[in-house]
Amino acid sequence: IKRVTTRTLQNLKSRGQRISMLTAYDFPTAAVLDEAGIDILLVGDSLAMVVAGHETTLPVTMDQMLYHAEMVGRAARRAMVVVDLPFPEGQLSIEQTLQSASRVLKETRCHAVKLEGGAEQAARIEALVTAGIPVMAHVGLRPQNIHVDGGYRIGRDQQRLVDDALAAQSAGAFAVLIECVTNAIGKAITDALDVPTIGIGAGPSTDGQVLVTNDMVGLTSGYLPTFVRKYADLQEVLKNAAQQYRNDVSDNTFPGPDETFES
Ligand code: KIV
Ligand code: NA
Repeated sequence: IKRVTTRTLQNLKSRGQRISMLTAYDFPTAAVLDEAGIDILLVGDSLAMVVAGHETTLPVTMDQMLYHAEMVGRAARRAMVVVDLPFPEGQLSIEQTLQSASRVLKETRCHAVKLEGGAEQAARIEALVTAGIPVMAHVGLRPQNIHVDGGYRIGRDQQRLVDDALAAQSAGAFAVLIECVTNAIGKAITDALDVPTIGIGAGPSTDGQVLVTNDMVGLTSGYLPTFVRKYADLQEVLKNAAQQYRNDVSDNTFPGPDETFES
């Protein structure tokens, strides 16, 4: 199997072929997504919300990200694996950001890091890429900035967002993730860039799409953003299985003869 690399992604963009990306946080899920042909697996700091049950992405630590990244990196045979730098690792000094980011390549089998921010991250992106660490930038809605922004909002400032993406590209980012912007802005950024764009809530014009896996398979409860398409209802599947098991246990029909050692 041929590994997806930064060059593969550039080739896909130049051929007009769309890039698929999903989040992954553990070995078995990552293995299935990889076998399904997903191009990029993201060990997202959304881990804090969809796995650990926190209200924002802020609580997850670098050590926790590395623990999950190592599992995903070991499971992925074809996909490129990108790991989020959690708050505030990508906002500290350039030296500290470089220290944290290098642990991803040193301690896991993952291939790149993702850093929230555009123009203000140019110096850090350049330092990381110079050191041999591929960087995916993340512009538009920045979940790590929620307390400054006062909530999650749709990006509408086209000039600023295009400038952010261009600055990230100039600094050496191999791709730019765009979160929650209008369709027109998703298209404007994609038209302005030479490197691939990956959108979430950014319309159909970006070079690729990403979703939080737990959202798209129905493993999250409560509010689901309108940009999510739900492809399965695993919560229902899991609940049914657990209820049937509970009934079988209380009826004493599990275990049956085939599930029992007779000798
Ligand atoms: O952490 C994450 O899952 C992300 C996606 C929303 C792209 O950054
Ligand atoms: Na993230």
